[in-house]
Amino acid sequence: MVLVTGRRASGRRRGRNERQSVSQLAVGVTTAPLTDSEVEEIRRDFPALQGTVNGEALAYLDSGATAQRPLSVLDAERDFLEHRNAAVHRGAHTLAGLATEAYEDARATVASFVGAQPDEIVWTSNATDSLNLVAYGMVNASRGRGGATARRFALTEGDEIVVTEAEHHANLIPWQELAALTGATLRYIPVDDDGIYQATDAAAVITDKTRVVAIAHVSNVTGFVAPVAEIVALAHQAGAVVVLDACQSAPHRRLDLPALGVDFAAFSGHKMLGPTGIGVLYGRTELLEALPPFRTGGSMISTVTMEGADYLPAPQRFEAGTQPVSQAVAIAEAVRYLEHVGLDRIEAHEEALAERMLAGLATIPGIRVVGPGAGIPRAGLVSFDVAGVHAHDVGQYLDSKGIAVRVGHHCAQPLHRRLGLTATTRASAYLYTTTAEVDRFLEAVGEVRGYFGEV
Ligand SMILES: Cc1ncc(COP(=O)(O)O)c(C=O)c1O
Repeated sequence: MVLVTGRRASGRRRGRNERQSVSQLAVGVTTAPLTDSEVEEIRRDFPALQGTVNGEALAYLDSGATAQRPLSVLDAERDFLEHRNAAVHRGAHTLAGLATEAYEDARATVASFVGAQPDEIVWTSNATDSLNLVAYGMVNASRGRGGATARRFALTEGDEIVVTEAEHHANLIPWQELAALTGATLRYIPVDDDGIYQATDAAAVITDKTRVVAIAHVSNVTGFVAPVAEIVALAHQAGAVVVLDACQSAPHRRLDLPALGVDFAAFSGHKMLGPTGIGVLYGRTELLEALPPFRTGGSMISTVTMEGADYLPAPQRFEAGTQPVSQAVAIAEAVRYLEHVGLDRIEAHEEALAERMLAGLATIPGIRVVGPGAGIPRAGLVSFDVAGVHAHDVGQYLDSKGIAVRVGHHCAQPLHRRLGLTATTRASAYLYTTTAEVDRFLEAVGEVRGYFGEV
């Protein structure tokens, strides 16, 4: 593979704090899909999209795995490291003060992005870490840690944890562990032949034994959008807490987590134009105050003796060790970028691209698309099987044409097993994806079976 990247879109390095070209867009005034020229304008902010792969212009259709980053995000992190880098919440010197201010400002920015208060946002290292934080906090509560207020999270034999058959392993294995460590039972909402489920399926599994319901907002395989409001109602009626895996929704659609009514939610910086190494856990204040921490050490305590320690209030009690400060600054800049373009417009753009992909794939013989059928909402990603050709071969053929997609089980083996598949090919769109890229992708998929001698 020949990969050439890094050419700056504008042909020059943008100055620090200089407004990016996307600021020229007439944003925030419409919920219409982005126009072709607006997408071209956006793309100029993304150096990674200017590269070529195998002699072809890169068509990056793997944002569901990780998104590319605009210059403003790259510059914000660099600017922080050049001018304000210090450990936060500790030093008495000026830089430490500036770094702490930047770190907490970033928390407020991300909080307002999801309709939350700053104290309801915990920085983690990624969504997987956020989900583990909740599950292992509950393990600790079940072992008696956290005192009387933590008892609401204590699980024991007879209690049930409910997930769906479509979860990413990050929102499955921590709950398997919680069950194994507490004696609780893990149950799941089954999916149908399309890999989706209805609220009525959830109603059959959520009972008064249920203590936790953990579901993905948007499936990373099918793009299915979960009936969150109905599930929250069922769970709360049963006295259970709802944990939302918002990895594939927070980057792509406007979220108001308190309005959705979920108790906890997790997402990652790197899927929303931000850096790796930072994730977000949202938790309702009352719950974060009651949940025992999972990691302990520096930065999360008020007093320590040789016998024990008192912990700081949330969110600091969950942020043990030296914090991901430059990453927090950068994720906040990513939020500003997304908000400037407009989440409603991004969602509409991706929906239009997904429709184009689905319509195109439907005309290609031997393609089986998994996920919701016509008329059922789905996000801007499409996974499919090509008859007679392994997904890895599909991916390699597309790569030879400069088209980047994800292949494999997408960390959702039980779902693939249910669908009777071991692997699929997934194309996922984002705000910078063009209709021309989708058409290139469709053309290449149309050639795959012939290339591998299947027709
Ligand atoms: C639905 C979903 N949940 C969880 C994750 C895990 O995210 P991370 O690897 O950033 O922790 C992903 C990433 O692919 C995902 O798509």
